[in-house]
Amino acid sequence: MCGIIGYVGYQNATPILVDGLRRLEYRGYDSAGVAIISADGKTHIHRAVGKLRNLDTVLREHPLTGSLGIGHTRWATHGRPTEENAHPHTIDGVTIVHNGILENYLELRHMLEARDRQFRSETDTEIMAHLIAEQIAKGHALDEAVRSILPQVRGTYALVVISESHPNTIVTAKNASPIVLGLGDNENFVASDIPACLEYTRSFVFLEDGQMAILRPKDISITDFEGNQQIVEPTTVTWSPIMAEKGGHKHFMHKEIYEQPTAVANTILGRVSMEDATIHLDGVNPEHIDPIDRLIITACGTSWHAGLIGKFMLEHIARIPVEVDLASEFRYRDPILDNKTGLLAISQSGETADTLGAVKDAKAAHAVVFGICNVIGSSIARECKNSGGVLYTHAGLEIGVASTKAFVTQLVALFLLAIHFGRKRGTLSITDGQDHLNRLREIPSHIESILAREASLIAIARRYARAKDFLFLGRGPNYPVALEGALKLKEISYIHAEGYAAGEMKHGPIALVDEHVPIVGIATAGPSYQKTISNLEEVRARNGKLIIIASEGDSRIASVADDVFVIPKTTPLLDPLLSVVPLQLLAYHIADAKGTDIDQPRNLAKSVTVE
Ligand code: AGP
Repeated sequence: MCGIIGYVGYQNATPILVDGLRRLEYRGYDSAGVAIISADGKTHIHRAVGKLRNLDTVLREHPLTGSLGIGHTRWATHGRPTEENAHPHTIDGVTIVHNGILENYLELRHMLEARDRQFRSETDTEIMAHLIAEQIAKGHALDEAVRSILPQVRGTYALVVISESHPNTIVTAKNASPIVLGLGDNENFVASDIPACLEYTRSFVFLEDGQMAILRPKDISITDFEGNQQIVEPTTVTWSPIMAEKGGHKHFMHKEIYEQPTAVANTILGRVSMEDATIHLDGVNPEHIDPIDRLIITACGTSWHAGLIGKFMLEHIARIPVEVDLASEFRYRDPILDNKTGLLAISQSGETADTLGAVKDAKAAHAVVFGICNVIGSSIARECKNSGGVLYTHAGLEIGVASTKAFVTQLVALFLLAIHFGRKRGTLSITDGQDHLNRLREIPSHIESILAREASLIAIARRYARAKDFLFLGRGPNYPVALEGALKLKEISYIHAEGYAAGEMKHGPIALVDEHVPIVGIATAGPSYQKTISNLEEVRARNGKLIIIASEGDSRIASVADDVFVIPKTTPLLDPLLSVVPLQLLAYHIADAKGTDIDQPRNLAKSVTVE
């Protein structure tokens, strides 16, 4: 949940570190800091509580210069967001930044205190600085010192260390938290995520769990924790730095909503053979996934909503039994798993601890694990590699904490999987498969037509921006869309919102309805249209204010609703890829009217790498 970065090379590290931290701020922003080992051989550190701009101010008043340095932007897990707890932490010339949680930190802290080690912070990170400093004091080289302390620590870490005794050297080690290495020309980078050094290189290495790297200006050496050399091929990333910028939009979230047509098209590209309606699932191992006779989808948040929709797709098209679990619940319900069970993990970041944990548990129980991820080389993607593999969504970089384009591309990936299984299991004819794929290929232009009518959603948003509570209602595949619409609104506008199955209202929630509670109903053409309209009329009869998402050509809906937004007609299974878009824009414009921090909402982070 934190952002870390390191630089070693020929340039002044400070601006590179600060620029990198700015691109990592979405990972957490309770405090930030940089440490530079200057030409005088000494370590100079500046840290500041709050957003990166506070550190920027300190650095302008007290600039730091040096060609070796590390930086950190924090999402607090141990210790309050204070300057003392901000990273980097330095002990006896050893300086460290860390993303993760040490589970045995108290035991280690007591052990070190018994050795008269003095602590300045409440963090688990400082413990590793002490342990490494002790090893350096015994004459160990920096990489040996780091290697020697790792067996003592239990937990998750992306660790980056520098030391005054080892100029021009960075050592990094990975267990469960992400680390990418950026390979430059006479300079090298280490970071939590690609955007941090995309300005300087396109060539990246993704460290695996149990790997360490020693970075120097002219070379990088990768070993396992035992010191055995590891050969890792670099990956060339095509994302341009501009992708990581806002492209003229006010917020990353707005830019990413507008990128959805392209993201959907890119996720389909190269994967569909129309002549026989078969799907090329690059990255997935069909010999592993095709034999499964039961599927469990597990995810968190928006990705869980995608999984709920995927159940409709997979059961209707492929007739494969599907259960959908919140990853944080799946791990503790003692699930029944065997080698004919598939576990499909959906995760934009590929780093969500709960989801990664579920994958590891399922793998240990001999289930076939495979993933739908957006970040190349992410931990979940790698965990699934030698089992069912990973189907990447090609949504591109998603920086806004509120997931949008990743969600619709997850639905594309699920739809492609459903068609793949349907064709393999003989439940889907070529003709029907071609029909489904033709409708799927219309989605990008349908989303474009929705985006072109954003102004009417802005008007609706302004009418309801002061409401204190919202309800979102839907049936069938649009019920998870109602959940998603509610999540979008609450996480960026801080307004309380709940998603409900429309048919559930009469079983209690309708007691909430009065003229102060806007209800967003999804009543698009399909098998549950009539019943949904009846549910919404019940709400209207109790003075509820109705905002309805309906299908183009619906002449009836205006008599039921206070506000209507129509979307193009498609099949019920693809409806969610369209009905979610007005809800994303509604949430965005209500939040914008309220002036909340849309890209970095309070208390949240883009990737939840703690359980
Ligand atoms: C989505 O808008 C939220 N930010 C959050 O619920 C997110 O979907 C969830 O944390 C899962 O993240 P993942 O897809 O990266 O695993």
